[in-house]
Amino acid sequence: MNDGRRTGHVPVLVEEVMGLLGCQPGRIYVDATLGGGGHALEILKRTAPDGVVIGIDWDEEAISEAKQVLRPYGERVRIFRENFIHLADLLNQIKVDQVDGILLDLGLSSLQLEKEERGFSFRGEGPLDMRMDQRIEHTAADWIDHLSREELEDVLSGYGQERWAKRIATAIVRVREQSPIQTTQALRKLVHRAVGGRCRSWRIDPATRVFQAFRIKVNDELENLRKILETGWRLLRKGGRICVISFHSLEDRIVKESFRRLEKGEMDASIPGRVIRILTPKPVRPSADERRRNPRSRSARLRCAERI
Ligand SMILES: C[S@@+](CC[C@H](N)C(=O)[O-])C[C@H]1O[C@@H](n2cnc3c(N)ncnc32)[C@H](O)[C@@H]1O
Repeated sequence: MNDGRRTGHVPVLVEEVMGLLGCQPGRIYVDATLGGGGHALEILKRTAPDGVVIGIDWDEEAISEAKQVLRPYGERVRIFRENFIHLADLLNQIKVDQVDGILLDLGLSSLQLEKEERGFSFRGEGPLDMRMDQRIEHTAADWIDHLSREELEDVLSGYGQERWAKRIATAIVRVREQSPIQTTQALRKLVHRAVGGRCRSWRIDPATRVFQAFRIKVNDELENLRKILETGWRLLRKGGRICVISFHSLEDRIVKESFRRLEKGEMDASIPGRVIRILTPKPVRPSADERRRNPRSRSARLRCAERI
């Protein structure tokens, strides 16, 4: 079947995810970060003729892209524009009690990153937007304009692990007194001026961590991840599995610690004992071949747990 794929987004760790999810016909899987539909498409192929994918994304553009890509699968795929933290309510509304697998592929899709007007990339010129869901109230420009110097420093060090957080926060406050910082290039140049001489190596653009920090802030990414991990396992049938692909150490730490607490039965006082079994004591990393073919995969780490 022609899979109709149009995006430049290449899904990561596909074989590893499919193996861990244990895709089988007749089962129901949630792809909670549908993006361009790459992983969902693979699940649909491997669960033919009657496996079902419930696909979720909060980005309007991702939803319309995924609808195109997955159209050939008709009623085997159901697509919703929603924040994945509302997964339990959504399943309740569509009268699905439990599912066989849940996939979270965190981070940005190439679809988002490559559109300059979304403001995610410092390589192009665009407004400092960075909202994955266009309904989110505040853009990156809003936060950059309104946070105090101390709050900016907290965002940069907490979400970007930025060594020069204080220096960059001070520069932001100084520059915005003259005129608002509204574009990706304005922010990038500001960061370069603030830390340029101090960077030992320019292999990684000094703006990388700053952009990561504001993106996490705008989209409340770490809090959303904590919430879905606290509740998502309840939606799995016994033997059902949850797979999470993360792209930086802040995310991976949350996944690792949440899984450990669930395995020890420590997540919630109302839960008697352990509720999951960790299937990946160490995170699964992409092969050398995948890293070469798809540089975006280099930082990917996959963890998986099974409901018991
Ligand atoms: C890396 S992409 C997923 C790519 C997808 N696996 C594929 O193969 O095409 C991550 C997607 O998750 C979505 N996303 C991130 N946080 C979300 C949330 N809290 N709720 C719903 N979607 C979210 C983003 O909008 C983005 O489209």
